[in-house]
Amino acid sequence: MPIPTAHIACKKEDFAKTVLMPGDPLRSKFIAETYLDDAVLVNDIRGVQGYTGYYKGKRVSVMASGMGQPSIGIYSYELFNFYDVSSIIRVGSCGSFQPDLKPCDIVVAMGACTNSNFASQFGLNGNFAPIADFGLVRAAADQCEKMGVNYRVGNVFSSDIFYNDVYSDLDWRKLGVLGVEMEAAALYCNAARAGKKALCICSVSDYLLDMSQNMDADSRRTAFTKMMEVALEIAEE
Ligand code: HPA
Repeated sequence: MPIPTAHIACKKEDFAKTVLMPGDPLRSKFIAETYLDDAVLVNDIRGVQGYTGYYKGKRVSVMASGMGQPSIGIYSYELFNFYDVSSIIRVGSCGSFQPDLKPCDIVVAMGACTNSNFASQFGLNGNFAPIADFGLVRAAADQCEKMGVNYRVGNVFSSDIFYNDVYSDLDWRKLGVLGVEMEAAALYCNAARAGKKALCICSVSDYLLDMSQNMDADSRRTAFTKMMEVALEIAEE
């Protein structure tokens, strides 16, 4: 497909090899302004802000995914397949269903279960198990240790539904799933299909076992910056 694509308008070389991907375009802007030197806005189609700059001398990009698997499916597909991006690190938020995972803690999503139909496009005789790149998982865990942040490595549930009518996301606890977010599984599928690397790390924003422990806006921001630093440190050039 020729570039620019319908959703990203810049030259191939405008993106670095690693793209950090928050859901929210304003977070993309925040990351670029807070952490990147010489950040340049490379995409603004639909307000999905993408920037490329330098973190401690290392060339890195950051671009928002929007919410949900269809949205991250589009952006990750185009970045991997048309813009020559090698790795995407999602930096998101999730709800936790584990008592030892509290607001501000970090989840390193080694695997992503889902209720999405996204992988049916591959025409497989069974269910694909979407997983992160092992090197990125290991690097993220090592970086969390180094920074002394509380983190867990495991499965997440990538849901297509935020407001459920019948099912409870908490049922996924039975199989040791750590928490719920809405993008990782599609990202991992696209990385696998393109032969590229992906990782999702999430800051716990909602403690679903006791909603009274949820975070205020300031704590969310602080936790988010820690997660950002983990992602920026492990980004490969
Ligand atoms: N559900 C789905 N996605 C989320 C949640 C949640 O409770 N919290 C943060 N992302």
